[in-house]
Amino acid sequence: MSGSVYGNIFKISTWGESHGRGIGVVIDGCPAGIRLEDADIQRDLDRRKPGTGKYTTKRSESDKAEILSGVFEGKTTGTPISIAIFNEDQRSKDYSAISDVFRPGHADFGFESKYGFRDYRGGGRSSARETAARVAAGAVARRLLEEIGISIAAYTFSINNIQISKDNFDLEQRFLNPLCMPDSEAAERAAKLLDEAMANADSTGGVVQCEVTGLKPGIGEPVFDKLDASIGKAVLSIGAVKGIEFGAGFEASKMYGSENNDSFYIKDGAVKKHTNNSGGVLGGMSDGDKLVFRAAFKPTPSIARPQTTANNKGEDIKIEIKGRHDPIVVARAVVVVEAMTAVTLADLVLMNMCAKIENVKKIYTDI
Ligand SMILES: Cc1cc2nc3c(=O)[nH]c(=O)nc-3n(C[C@H](O)[C@H](O)[C@H](O)COP(=O)(O)O)c2cc1C
Repeated sequence: MSGSVYGNIFKISTWGESHGRGIGVVIDGCPAGIRLEDADIQRDLDRRKPGTGKYTTKRSESDKAEILSGVFEGKTTGTPISIAIFNEDQRSKDYSAISDVFRPGHADFGFESKYGFRDYRGGGRSSARETAARVAAGAVARRLLEEIGISIAAYTFSINNIQISKDNFDLEQRFLNPLCMPDSEAAERAAKLLDEAMANADSTGGVVQCEVTGLKPGIGEPVFDKLDASIGKAVLSIGAVKGIEFGAGFEASKMYGSENNDSFYIKDGAVKKHTNNSGGVLGGMSDGDKLVFRAAFKPTPSIARPQTTANNKGEDIKIEIKGRHDPIVVARAVVVVEAMTAVTLADLVLMNMCAKIENVKKIYTDI
């Protein structure tokens, strides 16, 4: 299997399966000297952890990260950072009944067609358990970005048709309700909608919004490694993501140029914009404004309700999926979106270090 490595300079490789011994990540290219403690990683992993509330899978994992290499006396050493998270609460027997079945909406059919067989226990490598390794890598990237004043905050923007309102917006709320919605009233309504979906043995989808502050202009490469293209690839590689839009996004297609263009002006000698329809990215490079994007997640595919499907014996069958599943993906995915954003930005910031000879001279002469 190829494609488990991501990044150019700040490079991550995730490994492991849902019901194997464990999962983890190796990070290559992380600069030395960044203060990093277990708690920095654990804080983010705890936000993704299963078994933490009514609206997450009941699988009970402590998701305790162990840093195996690359950190000494509380600082990164510049050598590969290896982080392992051991699996504890696998219930593989839940999956034996569907070992030859293609679950609707899941990766089973594609996986079996591609490799000729699959690890059916919990979805194997296609399981969202893999995203714990991304979150661990994201926590390291976040520490790097914090050192240079860049911060990332994602939250649930909508669940089904219930969207947060500007009037009730309170960012702290995303840590206070189980749906990570920065609007307590919208969170209450969304919880009711989810209770109904769960009573009907169903699931639903939603949107995560992510905001990045502190990005200087010029981050992102102008052709293939554009800032928006890179974030797009990173975020679309998270299971269940079906779309991404930056700034005004799809709405921009209904505007006139005169409405969509963000006018520049000068404040204290710096170039600013009156509006942010660009979402902080122009020509594939950051424009110095807040980077804002939204990722749309489909409903969790594994639902308890009886469904029709096919198996690998060529039969049409009916299934009722057992096992423990998230009735909604977005609440646990918020920190995964932050993680993939952090890893991408850490990489693009490091790539930007050699954009012009002045940078190279400055770094070279300072060492
Ligand atoms: C944080 C997170 C949790 C998820 N939890 C589940 C789950 O409990 N059950 C499930 O069937 N899918 C879950 N998914 C979605 C599947 O991983 C995903 O739909 C599947 O791999 C197929 O990929 P695709 O939807 O991108 O085509 C979750 C995804 C994420 C990001």
